[in-house]
Amino acid sequence: MAQPITVHGVSKAFGVGKGSIEALRDIDLEVSAGEFVAIVGASGCGKSTLLRLVGGLMEPTNGQVRIGGKVVREPGPGIGIVFQTPVLLPWRTVQQNVQLPLDIQRCGKEPKRIAELLALVGLRGFEHSRPYELSGGMQQRVALCRALVTNPSLLLMDEPFGALDALTREQMNLELQRVWMETGKTVLLITHSITESVMLADRVVVMSPRPGRIQEIIEIGLPRPRDFSSLRDPEFHSACERIRMLMNASGFVE
Ligand SMILES: Nc1ncnc2c1ncn2[C@@H]1O[C@H](COP(=O)(O)OP(=O)(O)OP(=O)(O)O)[C@@H](O)[C@H]1O
Ligand SMILES: [Mg+2]
Repeated sequence: MAQPITVHGVSKAFGVGKGSIEALRDIDLEVSAGEFVAIVGASGCGKSTLLRLVGGLMEPTNGQVRIGGKVVREPGPGIGIVFQTPVLLPWRTVQQNVQLPLDIQRCGKEPKRIAELLALVGLRGFEHSRPYELSGGMQQRVALCRALVTNPSLLLMDEPFGALDALTREQMNLELQRVWMETGKTVLLITHSITESVMLADRVVVMSPRPGRIQEIIEIGLPRPRDFSSLRDPEFHSACERIRMLMNASGFVE
């Protein structure tokens, strides 16, 4: 069952003293069970840090993250994560990499499900290849399959389509929307594409530059399923313009 996320008063600093970096400041965010939320913001504003905090991969300096009401202190079951770089195990084949979360959770082999997922992302025939034999975009798609293989109720995705060509990216957007509509997961998606955020999300969180704070949250009321003809919808256009304006206005401070 999908679960809500509550981020309450979260700050994160790396290091101590003079050289410390304040990555996030006072983040409050509620994500409902089954909601699709996208996060956009300048490079270095703390998006990946926020995702890692929600995934229990690190602890906040202040504040709390809760999933389904329980404070997150470590990675829990039921969460699929797609990292900004695919981090595949080089000695495992594509199939074995996708199998990894099932091995960790001692769930047994699922060759049929893995074959279906690989076909879904256009990687049929690469089951027995090793990561070094794949392009960057293909590796990203393997990482997406690995995140989906346990059918997690919460999907955390950090720029999952960054290395894909424009058309494959659009196809993956539509597939992700379909999977989300069919399975009712809660999704947090970080993206550098304003169009992608509006295409997919119920709400788009726009962050300010470091220290990352939530600048504004924009509701996207466009009907679903959306497709790339939705781009012509005036609401689509005005949401994109609003996000662009906010990101421009906040400037870059790196
Ligand atoms: N493990 C770490 N140790 C020290 N500093 C870190 C660490 N992780 C992130 N930072 C710093 O925190 C800030 C936010 O980093 P983060 O990776 O969250 O940004 P981001 O918004 O994901 O950027 P991008 O869009 O480029 O991926 C950066 O200034 C970065 O240098
Ligand atoms: Mg990042």
